[in-house]
Formats: sequence, C-alpha cells, structure tokens
Amino acid sequence: MFMFTNVNLGQNEEGIYPKTTQRREMSIFFGLFLLIAQCLIEAEDAPKPNFVLMMVDDLGIGDVGCYGNNTIRTPNIDRLALEGVKLTQHIAAAPLCTPSRTAFMTGRYALRSGLGSTGRVQVILFLGASGGLPPNETTFSKLLQKQGYTTGLVGKWHLGVSCSSRNDHCHHPNNHGFNYFYGLPFTKFNDCQPGEATDILADLQDALWNIFMLLALALLTLILAKMTGVLEMRSKMLAFLVVLYVLAFLTWYIPFAFLRTWNCIIMRNQKVVEQPLNLDTLTEKLMYEAEQFVERNQNRPFLLFLSLPHVHTPLAISKQFTGKSKHGLYGDNIEEVDWMIGRMMKTIEKLNLAERTLMYFTSDHGGDIGISDWQGAKGGWNGIYRGGKGMGGWEGGIRVPGILRWTKRLSAGKIIHEPTSLMDIFPTVVKLAGGELPNDTILDGHSLLPLLEGKTKRSEHEFMFHYCGVYLHAVRWHPRDSDSVFKVHFFTSNSNTSFRCHGDSVTQHDPPLVFDIISDPSEAKQLMTGTEPCLAEVLRQVRSAVEEHRRTLTSPTNQLSWPNVLWKPWLQPCCGVFPFCSCSESSRV
Ligand SMILES: *[C@@H]1O[C@H](CO)[C@@H](O)[C@H](O)[C@H]1NC(C)=O
Repeated sequence: MFMFTNVNLGQNEEGIYPKTTQRREMSIFFGLFLLIAQCLIEAEDAPKPNFVLMMVDDLGIGDVGCYGNNTIRTPNIDRLALEGVKLTQHIAAAPLCTPSRTAFMTGRYALRSGLGSTGRVQVILFLGASGGLPPNETTFSKLLQKQGYTTGLVGKWHLGVSCSSRNDHCHHPNNHGFNYFYGLPFTKFNDCQPGEATDILADLQDALWNIFMLLALALLTLILAKMTGVLEMRSKMLAFLVVLYVLAFLTWYIPFAFLRTWNCIIMRNQKVVEQPLNLDTLTEKLMYEAEQFVERNQNRPFLLFLSLPHVHTPLAISKQFTGKSKHGLYGDNIEEVDWMIGRMMKTIEKLNLAERTLMYFTSDHGGDIGISDWQGAKGGWNGIYRGGKGMGGWEGGIRVPGILRWTKRLSAGKIIHEPTSLMDIFPTVVKLAGGELPNDTILDGHSLLPLLEGKTKRSEHEFMFHYCGVYLHAVRWHPRDSDSVFKVHFFTSNSNTSFRCHGDSVTQHDPPLVFDIISDPSEAKQLMTGTEPCLAEVLRQVRSAVEEHRRTLTSPTNQLSWPNVLWKPWLQPCCGVFPFCSCSESSRV
C-alpha cells in the first residue's frame, strides 16, 4: 500500500515539474513518503478523536461567565474554558441562524451555497418550503462519515427539509452526513408557545390582514348594492369574485394561522414524532437523546452536533431553573444551557472519553438586543460589543464565544486573541478525523490546529468578509506583519429589530467607517483621514481584497427566493393525515 502511494505521487508530480528539477523533487517525494508512512503508523496507534460540537442559539458573548459576565452563573462553560482553549475573537459568518449555520456546516460563506438572501427573508420560514442547504454541498459530517465516523445531530437544524415532495428529504440532516437526527428541523420561535405574538413576517401578516378586511368590506358593499338594485351586476360575476376572495384569503391565511403546527415539530430521523412540540419537555428529551447517542457510540469514533434551541424566545425553561438567576427568564435560560453543557461534559467524562474527545462550545451569532420586553426578560447581552443579532457587520452580531477542550492534546487555560471563524471547525475536524479537504470547492475556513497547539501565533485569516445576506457590510483586515485588526464598514444596519440588509434598512458609508478593533473593540472611535496616516492604505488593501474575493463568487440557485421560502402544502412534514397533523412523544424522565 505504501509503494502504491509513492508511485502515484511520483506520476502526478512528473507531469507538473520540469525535468531539470526532477532529482530534487524525487528526494522531496521520498521525504513526503516517509512522512505519510509515519502519519499512517501514528494514526493506527492513536484512535481517532471524537467530536462533541455544542452550539447555542442567539447567545451573546457577554452572557457567559468566562467572557466577563459576573452575575450570570455559567460554571460548566467556564470549566470547559479553564480546561481548554478560549477564543476571544471568534466570528460567525453571518448575524442570523440560517446563513451562519450554513457556513458552519460547509466551511464556506453562505452565499456560496445560495443561502445569502437578496431580499427581506434571510432565514427559512417554513418547514414546508423548498429552500435549504443544497444536497450537493459538502458538509464536515459527510466527510467524517467517509472516515468511518458515526455522526449525530441532536437539536436545531433550520436548513430545510425537502425539495419537491414531502418525502424526498433533500435538505434533511440525514442527507447531509448525519447518521442520526433527533430534534427540530426548524427552530424554536415565538409561535411555538400558544398565545405568543408571531415571529414570522409579523408586519406582512398585519398588512395582509388589513388588506383582506378592506377587500371584504368592498365585496360586502357590492353585494348590498346589487341586492338593493343600486348596482347592475351579473350574479355569476359576483359569485366569481367571492370565490376568488375566499381562495386568496385562505392562500395566505392557512400558512400563517397554523405556524405552530407547521413549524414546531420534532423529528427522529425522517419521521415526525411530535407535532406541535412540547416546550416543557424539550430540554429533557434533547439531553436524553444526546447522552444515548454518546453511549451507543462510545466504542467507535463519533461526532455529535448538539445544537441547542435555547436561548431563542420563547424562553421556556425546566422548572428547576425558573427564577434562579439574577436576570429574569433570560438569565434562567442561560443557566439551564450551562447545566446542559455540564451534563454533556459529565457524560463524556463518565465514559472515560475526555482524553479522546474534542469538545467545542459556541453560539450561532450574537445576542438579540432587539428583545427588551419578552415577558419582562431582556434578550442577549453582547458585552462591550456594538450591535447584535441581525445587525450586519457590527461586532456584537458576529463575535461569539468559542471554546475548545481536548485534555490530551490542547493546553488548559490557553487564550487566543487572533481572529478565528466558526467556518474553521470544518477543516479542523476533517483534518483531525484523517480526511481530505475537498479540492474542488473553495473553503473559507482554516484549520485551527496550528493556532490551538501553538505551532503558529498567527491566524490564517488575513481578511474576513462580514456578510448580511448577499450584501457585504464590512471587512476585517489583520495585516500579515502586524498585530492590528481593522474593520471597514461599507454599510451599517439602522435597526436592531428589522434584520434587513439593504435599502432603507441600512446606511451606506462612503468613505467607509473604519475602526481599529484592537484598541477600540466597541467600534466607538472612527478613524479619521487627518489623524490616521494609514487609513488610505487600509482602504486600498481592503478594496483589493474584496475584488479578489468577488472573483471567487459564483451565482448558485437562490435558496431564499420567494418561490423557495413560501409554504407549500405538499412539502409539509406531518404526522397523521395532512392537514390534521398531530402526534406526541411521551416523556422519558
Ligand atoms: C450579564 O448578562 C446579563 C443578561 O444578559 C446582562 O444583563 C448583564 O449586564 C451582564 N453582565 C455583565 C457584567 O456583562
């Protein structure tokens, strides 16, 4: 087998290099061969590491003890950081769920997969919609399966279900490299709690309601006018108008009126097991499933992606956490999350897996600073960072906690301030699993290993592009020869609730706003031309990097176009006979 590798390498290289250098190349091959052989031998000695990737939804960096919060108690997350490596400049590729999670799964900016929105809808709104993570995308979970891993996703997905029929499951986790899925193919959102205000296109729903009420009034007037003989009109014509009205009304009313049934569901693999889901038992069910997955697979390499639907509203919490924190329901929710992380750590430790398990903790993007009165609870807290969820390129929306613990290989208590990305997890786990990175697609993440192990002090991210949908809002530049990090904003968001990326919702800056985020992490003091000699150079470098980056973009099918986000009854996951979907799972504990 070794011979084979060597011969192959030689043949490939011969075609590429000119004859004169062949000798030197041959000795390099030999060296390479030895290296590969050595790696193979080592690989046989050390079992492949397991991975437990834990992601919280909407958690702010300022909500966590080890990132500076002194009133919320997160002892388990803090312990993970103490025993592992803490990243202080860990950046989500987008400030909202669907695009950020797309980038996490693929190691690429979401717009490369068609999940950068061009309009107002930036996330998947219905499980019965046809948009989602395209089946041909390469996810890290697919590559790990090829390396013999058993892979599981417990919790939130939010990257689509089916393409053209209810059972094709083209976007489903099982089709994206997960052997096992238990959880929410959608997300937790307000409509999951009966009696809560709606979360989805609330303004559009209001507008449509008003329009239809006006139309109803007009129709009634017509009918009255005809009945009293004021108006000459054929009855058939009137009947046609009424039927048209009813059809149009149902077409928008049904998708929105049954949001809880359509979207709040739990699936086990491709089967709907709870519809609508029960928020009260959600935490215990997810914990049970995550622990069972690890126990079942303790003797072989596994990857578990535990994707918590917390701390997104509605803030449902198990009874033992109610009223326990100093920060109302929101704080209670975080302390529950911390308890869940702790349980996961204990499960790994109890099974003696800590030494060969890399545990990772993060949030999909910054805290939601637009919620201020959700049942008296405030939303997320992004600490000293400006902005939050859905707010384009501001630091608060994209800088998130990032902790990696692997007691055997990474030094405890290490802190890394270099820029890193959630997209880096892809190459990191694929390399550790012994896999090859895909060479036919562009990857935007870089393996974290050299940084984590101290083999380098520098992040490979010289530029990072901060997208809001398909719109490039800001760019981060970490010049190769300096410790500075500059951030250049071309657009900034006007609102902390509308979550839109273009048009009236943003302000364009020309010249762009520039901040030095090492000396000014809160993005409060804009660098000015008069006082800052390097400003022109920063802009020049960033502009040319943007040009180069743009050349790598293609135009994939837009997964968030209106036809792809609208509810299609024939795609709706359902237990029972559609549209009477209903089932529930008994509690385990
Ligand atoms: C801790 O988090 C809470 C809730 O998000 C927030 O209100 C508080 O200001 C934070 N404290 C610090 C010191 O960051």
